[in-house]
Amino acid sequence: MLLSDPVCPLGGSRLGHARVDLDALAEGFGKPLLEEARGFMIGGVPDDHFGYEVAAVYDRSEAAMFAPEVVNPAVEVLAGLAGDGAALELAVGTGRVALPLAARGVPVSGIELSTAMLDRLRVKPGAERLQVAVGDMATTRTPGRFRLVYLVFNTIGNLTTQDEQVACFANAASHLDPGGVFVVEVAVPDLRRLPPGEHTRVFDHGPGHIGYDHYVDLVAQRAVSHHLHSDGTTVSETVTPFRYVCPSDLDLMARLAGLALRHRWADWHRAPFTADATSHVSVWEKPAPPPNTEAGGAPGC
Ligand SMILES: C[S@@+](CC[C@H](N)C(=O)[O-])C[C@H]1O[C@@H](n2cnc3c(N)ncnc32)[C@H](O)[C@@H]1O
Repeated sequence: MLLSDPVCPLGGSRLGHARVDLDALAEGFGKPLLEEARGFMIGGVPDDHFGYEVAAVYDRSEAAMFAPEVVNPAVEVLAGLAGDGAALELAVGTGRVALPLAARGVPVSGIELSTAMLDRLRVKPGAERLQVAVGDMATTRTPGRFRLVYLVFNTIGNLTTQDEQVACFANAASHLDPGGVFVVEVAVPDLRRLPPGEHTRVFDHGPGHIGYDHYVDLVAQRAVSHHLHSDGTTVSETVTPFRYVCPSDLDLMARLAGLALRHRWADWHRAPFTADATSHVSVWEKPAPPPNTEAGGAPGC
């Protein structure tokens, strides 16, 4: 399925081209969009950290995130923001949010880098409702205009440079209709818990799982997340680099993309965002153009 063919190492982060068998991938998705995606698959794509081994266990290892009490409030908010318009999920993964949102009647498209994750998605009931393009969410264009673009579960951090994150905001904005919104759900960096001189913080430990973040570059805001899972016999580890960002970083990226903050909540229940919040759901709006610009100029020009 994935005929991976990395070429062209560029700079510090290894970039490569991925050749993907779109015909095989089209099985289970709306085919027209995959056809059009061919035209957009140009240039390099970032490293894929969600290959077949990770994708095979993703729904199980992230079972808590698939629980109805986690998914339903998110879908409720997103459906409300989409209204009678269409939605685009950046990094759609195995469809944790896209499938229930589409089941609510919202037309949902997706962009996703990992064909292994998409292989898992396409065999799920309802996948045929989704229009999915393979590519990097920072650069991949997908046809259509959207009332809502969203990027959840800390995934903005999977873009590990500021340039890529800025590009992602611009890409999200370029897919939005005027008045449409871009929603990001991401953790607040927990650097307050990192004593001076330390570079590692365990964020979860219990039977069968240890999770820790290794802060590798406090200047470039780069860290690596490690998850060790044990089934009592074997131990497996997943390692995911990420770039952590403060809400104010994201506000500036949004501003560069021509978006303005409309809401910031601490969670999908719309709890107020305070200094103690560990995560946030932020909503930026693409302003509608002022009515007098239609003819190409301000009054009097
Ligand atoms: C934590 S998972 C989230 C998946 C899904 N949104 C969810 O909430 O379950 C992160 C996803 O981001 C995808 N991803 C990482 N970097 C990406 C990029 N540059 N462009 C598109 N997708 C990317 C991964 O392949 C993976 O499917």
